[in-house]
Amino acid sequence: MILVTGGAGYIGSHTVRLLMDKGYDVVVLDNLVHGQKDFIERLNVPFIQGEAGDGNLISTILKGSHKECCSKEIEAVIHFAAYAYVGESVKDPAKYYKNNVTGSLSLLIEVCNESKRRNSAPIPIIFSSTCATYGIPESIDIPITEKCIQKPINPYGRSKYMIEQIIHDFSVAYSLPSVIFRYFNAAGAHPSGDLGEHHDPETHLIPLILDAALGRKENIEIFGCDYETKDGTCIRDYIHVQDLASAHIMGLELVKKKTGNYTFNLGTGTGYSVLQIIEEIEKVTGENIKVKYTNRRIGDPSVLIADCSKARNVMGWKPEMSDLKKIIDDAWKWHKIRFK
Ligand code: UFG
Repeated sequence: MILVTGGAGYIGSHTVRLLMDKGYDVVVLDNLVHGQKDFIERLNVPFIQGEAGDGNLISTILKGSHKECCSKEIEAVIHFAAYAYVGESVKDPAKYYKNNVTGSLSLLIEVCNESKRRNSAPIPIIFSSTCATYGIPESIDIPITEKCIQKPINPYGRSKYMIEQIIHDFSVAYSLPSVIFRYFNAAGAHPSGDLGEHHDPETHLIPLILDAALGRKENIEIFGCDYETKDGTCIRDYIHVQDLASAHIMGLELVKKKTGNYTFNLGTGTGYSVLQIIEEIEKVTGENIKVKYTNRRIGDPSVLIADCSKARNVMGWKPEMSDLKKIIDDAWKWHKIRFK
């Protein structure tokens, strides 16, 4: 059985759906602070409401002794559960270090303890990291490879970076197998229209523009138009959430087949500016989006584009659904169902 922490969240829920489609037994742990209860109902997956940092609870789940596990031991952990608002992390770093660092550390300790107790193949961990661990890369480092120096510039990025370091240390000392994924900009929704992005508050570009298209927002603010990019607005690498989900399945299969410690960027290698995203959303929705230019948002790098050749070469992964039109089509379908 696979334990998915944060399985009621955006990327987590899509990964749970794909795992189940592929025949994996899954149990989800989520505290439902940001996770969506109706996603769990829709997924029809065994569910435990609780904290990833609750050592006793995790130990019980890993052993298969929790009633939702039906006596099945956990064979791998996919750890999504985290707070992920950059701005909030600056205002309240304690919240981020407590949840993202202390919570994950406790989880990792329980995983290693359980592996030791079993005295068989160690339990691998798949960990959600972020391009925010790279901070503000030099233009010479674009597209960003996994070897690019990591210099996070906010507590959110640092919290993820710290866990990456802890995973490395645990792999050396306790032979913890791991796959670390550094996501670029997750976007899109499940093509069925019944899972998608639902953050409260919403801070991400695509859902905010879709809000404007639906008339839930008067305009979209563009944070800065004086960047050194072709149209002056920031460039990001948008990756379809289904492609992220499929990377998790491949990572799981890879680490089961060949134990080790792997780190992969997950993006497409193509960047789009804020204005290009608005233009594509206008095309897909047929709505005219009003824009308002405002100051730069502190801490926004001008360009973030992934070099994903390592994920392709080592895991055989490549984005299949991350064409920008497909991302926006799926996001729009979901957004209308969810928010109209
Ligand atoms: N943007 C706007 N207006 C908005 C919202 C966003 O102009 O109302 C711009 C941002 O300045 C940025 C781009 O749109 O250039 C994308 O912004 P998002 O907030 O959607 O995403 P980020 O690139 O800031 O954040 C993503 C992940 C984070 C991660 C970060 C690393 O969502 O989890 O990349 O930089 F930390």
